[in-house]
Amino acid sequence: MLRIAVLGSGRGSNFAAILRALEEGVIPNARVCVVISNNSGAGILELARSHNLPAVHLSHKQFADEQQFVRALLELLRRHEVNLVVLAGYMKRMHPAVVDAYRKRIVNIHPALLPKFGGAGMYGHHVHEAVIASGERVSGATVHLVDEEYDHGRILLQQSVSLSAGETADSLAAKVLQIEHQLYPEALRQIAEGQIILDTP
Ligand code: GRF
Repeated sequence: MLRIAVLGSGRGSNFAAILRALEEGVIPNARVCVVISNNSGAGILELARSHNLPAVHLSHKQFADEQQFVRALLELLRRHEVNLVVLAGYMKRMHPAVVDAYRKRIVNIHPALLPKFGGAGMYGHHVHEAVIASGERVSGATVHLVDEEYDHGRILLQQSVSLSAGETADSLAAKVLQIEHQLYPEALRQIAEGQIILDTP
């Protein structure tokens, strides 16, 4: 049984797509046990509450130092017996102690075809602007494992999209987001069904 924690900072459209897939039974043997956001006003928390899922605002700012924050986060994950952490628009870097405690059990979605257009500063519209500026004809989305480096862990699943003539960062963002909403539930389905094995050496 996949016991999922979803971490996000914003609107939560990927979380909505994942919830839909879970409710439709597309992802077998899995449930969202807790939703966590560093941002008390995040749509992702509202969405969790409207589905009667535990929704927790947890931010570095609530703690005297980072160690205490990390301890609280790990405690929360353990209390809900989480075995898969799903980052869905989480804008904070995962602390190495959390990465270590959940090694190969943290996944993320990135709005480009990694390893291109990843790394520090490559988030939101920055990604799509960089893709367009580079003259690429194709972009897409990537689901990958999270390690200590930004956008660096093993690539699990990718889907591409062609750029049209006159594509803008905004139009590309919308196209890629649509793909994300198919790709993330599909990656979780494959993990749940053992088609993607997270614990390979
Ligand atoms: C997505 O574009 C995702 O690729 C990135 O953050 C965004 C989150 O959007 N990591 P949403 O909150 O799921 O709508």
